[in-house]
Amino acid sequence: MIRARIIGSGICLPANIVTNDELAKKVDTSDAWIRERTGIHQRYIALPGEKTSDLAVGAAREALIDAGIDAGELDMIICATTTPDETFPATATIVQSRLGMAHGAAFDVQAVCSGFIYGLSVADSLIRTGAARTILLIGAETMSRLLDWNDRTTCVLFGDGAGAVVLQAHEGRGDNADQGVLNTRLFSDGRLHDMLYTTGGVSSTQTAGVLKMQGKEVFKHAVTNIAAAITASAEAAHVALDQIDWFVPHQANQRILDGTARRLGIDPAKVVSTVALHGNTSAASVPLALVTAVRDGRIKRGDLVLLEAMGGGFTWGAALVRW
Ligand code: ACO
Repeated sequence: MIRARIIGSGICLPANIVTNDELAKKVDTSDAWIRERTGIHQRYIALPGEKTSDLAVGAAREALIDAGIDAGELDMIICATTTPDETFPATATIVQSRLGMAHGAAFDVQAVCSGFIYGLSVADSLIRTGAARTILLIGAETMSRLLDWNDRTTCVLFGDGAGAVVLQAHEGRGDNADQGVLNTRLFSDGRLHDMLYTTGGVSSTQTAGVLKMQGKEVFKHAVTNIAAAITASAEAAHVALDQIDWFVPHQANQRILDGTARRLGIDPAKVVSTVALHGNTSAASVPLALVTAVRDGRIKRGDLVLLEAMGGGFTWGAALVRW
């Protein structure tokens, strides 16, 4: 059986770090409130002129070097983003051009904070069916551009960044010992639109709008839905949760991470958390956390890793990967 194996990874963060104290000079908030309610200490915010594609290219270049391949060996580029440089063309095509790749296909996936999991599912399917052998998957966002900086209930939560992985076809035996993506599970419920959305869009207001959120409702649904997605992915592979080495969640809020771990009886020491450093970077959050834990030596070759996310739509999902 063909498996999509992750052969390289990379990240890119803007140089500009904004601490909670710095934010509190512009918005009616405090470091203590943000830390206590969210676990966030700081976030990276793109400087004026710094675009999603700049971060995506930075992460992509690192991932290609880590994989030891050239852009010429890629068949496709998938970019998960909600904050594209332009309404069209896809940010993935801008990355394709900047990497000097003049063949194959490049397109974006839009599932907000679940974008990387959705993109991983698409890439896995394309590789398993033989439509592509090597795919660059990026999660890249400049969420700072979608925020109402006068709304303290949302602007303190988000940050900018990008993470990328290179996936490549690899012949496996078809069991859980195989390296690569073992399964992905995707879900959405469009009836929950009003809990997390933007006030604009091309066909409605001809503007991007700003992010609106019913925080408490999002929180409740997040714990329930993420727990369900984790369970669905583990059950599909006939794996007990305590057999999973690492959980790499979407980094929305430390309390959501803790609540989900508590609900499922997961050892918190197995949950990778970078929310303190990055805030919520939407589609970039899972790869940023994944790469952080790979680089600091926590995630090792052969480990069983469960990735999960939830975002606007609502969309949510999980993926089980043998690293
Ligand atoms: N600084 C100081 N005070 C604030 C701030 C702030 N930044 N934001 C809100 N407050 C105030 C409120 O006005 C309120 O004051 P009041 O009691 O005088 O009315 C008080 O703090 C409590 O507000 P709540 O909304 O009840 O605070 P809560 O404990 O629910 O925390 C939060 C809010 C952090 C948004 C929480 O609901 C949450 O994390 N929800 C999940 C949202 C999320 O993570 N979204 C990301 C996108 S979706 C995803 O990625 C899963």
